[in-house]
Amino acid sequence: KRRTAEPYKIKAVEPLAMLSYEERKDALERAGYNTFLIDSHDVYIDLLTDSGTSAMSDRQWGALMVGDEAYAGSKSWKKLEQAVREVYGYKYVLPTHQGRGAENLLSQLKIKQGDVVPGNMYFTTTRAHQELNGARFVDIIIDEAHDPSYEHPFKGNVDIKKLESLIHEVGSERIPYVCLAVTVNMAGGQPVSMQNMKEVYELCQYHGIDVMLDATRCVENAYFIKEREAGYENHKIKDILKEMFSYSDGCTMSGKKDCLVNIGGFLAMNDEELYARSRELVVVYEGMPSYGGMAGRDMEAMAQGIYESIDDHYIQHRIQQVRYLGQQLIDAGIPVVQPIGGHAVYLDARQFLSHLSQEEFPAQALAAALYLDSGVRAMERGIVSAGRNKDTGEHNKPKLELVRLTIPRRVYTNNHMDVVADSVIALYEKRRNISGLRMDYEPPTLRFFNARFSPL
Ligand code: F0G
Repeated sequence: KRRTAEPYKIKAVEPLAMLSYEERKDALERAGYNTFLIDSHDVYIDLLTDSGTSAMSDRQWGALMVGDEAYAGSKSWKKLEQAVREVYGYKYVLPTHQGRGAENLLSQLKIKQGDVVPGNMYFTTTRAHQELNGARFVDIIIDEAHDPSYEHPFKGNVDIKKLESLIHEVGSERIPYVCLAVTVNMAGGQPVSMQNMKEVYELCQYHGIDVMLDATRCVENAYFIKEREAGYENHKIKDILKEMFSYSDGCTMSGKKDCLVNIGGFLAMNDEELYARSRELVVVYEGMPSYGGMAGRDMEAMAQGIYESIDDHYIQHRIQQVRYLGQQLIDAGIPVVQPIGGHAVYLDARQFLSHLSQEEFPAQALAAALYLDSGVRAMERGIVSAGRNKDTGEHNKPKLELVRLTIPRRVYTNNHMDVVADSVIALYEKRRNISGLRMDYEPPTLRFFNARFSPL
C-alpha cells in the first residue's frame, strides 16, 4: 500500500519545550498531579484537547487582516453567515463566542421547567445549560456506547426504542427538542449513521419535536459515513454534510473544533419565529447579532475555516492521523476504546491499571505518569471528571474510566504520534509500577479542573 502524508506544508513553526525527567517531575508536583494545572510551556506534545488548538492556514491568517470590526453590519459577519448557510444549509445563523454560548441561548429559548431533553450521551457544558433551565437530561444512546471494547461502526447512534418509549412516557409536549451530537465526544468520538439521523428526524417530526444537532465535530462524522455506510463511499464530504443537516431543525456549534479556529461558535436554525426570539437574546449575552462574541477577524477566519474543513483530503488525513496513533496502541495490545473515534484515542485506564481500584483514580494516575514519562499531556475522563452525587456525597462512578489523547487539527505530524505511542507502550510494560493517587484538594464544583493529588 502506498503511503500518504499531511495534505499541507509547514510555513511557521512553534518550538516545543523539551524538559528533562527531573524538570517534568517538578512541574508535575507543582501541578498537583493534575494535567489541567501544568503550564503549557512545560508540555512537549499537548493532547489535552482539540478545542481551539487547531493550526490556522495561511489564508485564515490572511483573512484576519481584512476583518471588519464594525459594531453593526460587519462585512465579516456576512461572510460567516454565508459560509454557514452554504455548507450547513440552515436559513438563520447567530454568532456566539463559543459553543456553550449557543447552548445557553438554545436552552433558554426552548426549555421550560420540568422538561426532558433526550440526547446521545451527555456533554458537560451542554447538559449544564439544559439543567440550569430546568430540564432533565435523558441518555438515549445505544447501550454498546458504554462498553469500551465493543466494535460498532456507529457507536454514537440513538436507540430509537429508548427515544420512542421516552416520548410515550413523558409526552412530546415535555420534550422541547432532541439534542443529537455528531460525533459523540464522551463515547470516544463515535459517529452517528445517516440512517439513524433520518430515523430520529422522522420519529421526531411525527411527534412534533425538533431535532437540534450538536454539530461540534460534524465533518468528522461525515467522514465516518463516507467510510462505513453503504451508498456513501463515492459522495463528497460536503454533500454528506448537507444531507446530515437536512435531518435536523437547527444546531449549536463550537467553532473551536471542526471550523478550524481558536475561538467562536454559532446557533443556527430554520424556524423564523425562533430566530426572531434568539436575536433578542443574543444581545443580552453575546453581542449584536452581527458579531455575537466574536471580533470581525475571528469571523473572517471561521468563514475560511468552514470551507477548508470540507476538503476531502483534509478530513481524510485528520481521521487517519488519529487512527494511526490508535492502531499502534491496538497492535501493542494496549486497552483503548474501539473503534478509534474522530478526534481522540481513549486509553481504558481501568484495564490498563487493573491493579488500582477506581477510588485510586486510575485515569488521573495514568495521565500523570504519561506526562512524567514523555511530557505528553492528556486529559482524565473518569471518576474525577464525573464528580460527586449531590444527594449522597459519594463519588459518581462512571463505567468509562478513560484517558483522552486528543489530537489538535493540522498541528502535529505522525512523528509526534510515534513519540506518543512509544511512551504509552513503555508505560504499559511497566504499568505495575504506577501507583494510585490521593486527592489532597477537592473543589466543590467541576473538580477535575483544579483538584490536587499526590501519589499513594
Ligand atoms: N459540545 C461538545 C461535543 C464539545 O466537545 C464541546 C467542547 C462543547 C459542546 C462546548 O463547546 O468549548 O466551544 O464552549 N469540548 C471541549 C473538549 C471543551 O475539550 O472536549 P465550547
